[in-house]
Amino acid sequence: MGTNRRIELGVNVDHVATIRQQRDTLYPDPVTAASIAEMAGADQITIHLREDRRHITDRDVTLMRQTVQTRLNLEMAATQEMQTIALEVRPDQITLVPEKREERTTEGGLDVRGNFQELQSYIAPFRELGIKVVNFVDPEVDQINATLEMGAQGIEIHTGEYCDAPNNAEQQAEFERIAKAAQHGRDKDLFVAAGHGLDYTNTEAICQIEAIEELNIGHSIIARAVLVGLDRAVREMRQIMDQNLG
Ligand code: PXP
Repeated sequence: MGTNRRIELGVNVDHVATIRQQRDTLYPDPVTAASIAEMAGADQITIHLREDRRHITDRDVTLMRQTVQTRLNLEMAATQEMQTIALEVRPDQITLVPEKREERTTEGGLDVRGNFQELQSYIAPFRELGIKVVNFVDPEVDQINATLEMGAQGIEIHTGEYCDAPNNAEQQAEFERIAKAAQHGRDKDLFVAAGHGLDYTNTEAICQIEAIEELNIGHSIIARAVLVGLDRAVREMRQIMDQNLG
């Protein structure tokens, strides 16, 4: 309290696109969702263009590059296809994540150390264009060191294990790992973000970690929007029916 510290909020709008893709409709449009999130105070918009295009599509990426007024963070696997798209679209930031077709969401951090050479050459053209490169990593010191050595500018620490911890003791242990990793990233002058699985109950503690500069949150915010918006949505349909009787 009383400090000027502020953690930036990146809002991931993938789940708006998930609802749209279930019916192949034009709505709800994640591009509109991104604008609303910005008007409500988001500092950054994140979208994950997956290989199978299960939620965000190429059209969304192109349009959001034109409409996002804060910062656009493109989350992606380090593939040739994504590199071509990202170099063309030029988001403000790319976040490299591991990606498996069968997973429901990103399951773990990137193995930066294990793929060091490939990742180092992969990010070279992004560095030339001044696009910020962030690695999504588990809270492990060596992955953070490898991120620095390969020339990326930042880390996003995977908070999934903390969020899914089965009991308080394990959650506390995960919290300590995240705090330590965040401080290590800060000591190395890396940009430090965190995210995955953060919701309306477990985010409070994470905000206490001083080295964290940004949180990326998606599912819980979109899920909350469905419930806080449902009352109005039902009333609006009721109104259409009441006002248009034959
Ligand atoms: N950060 C990364 C790297 C992710 O892959 C995701 C999920 O797409 C998020 C943050 C947001 O996670 P959640 O939807 O659980 O808030």
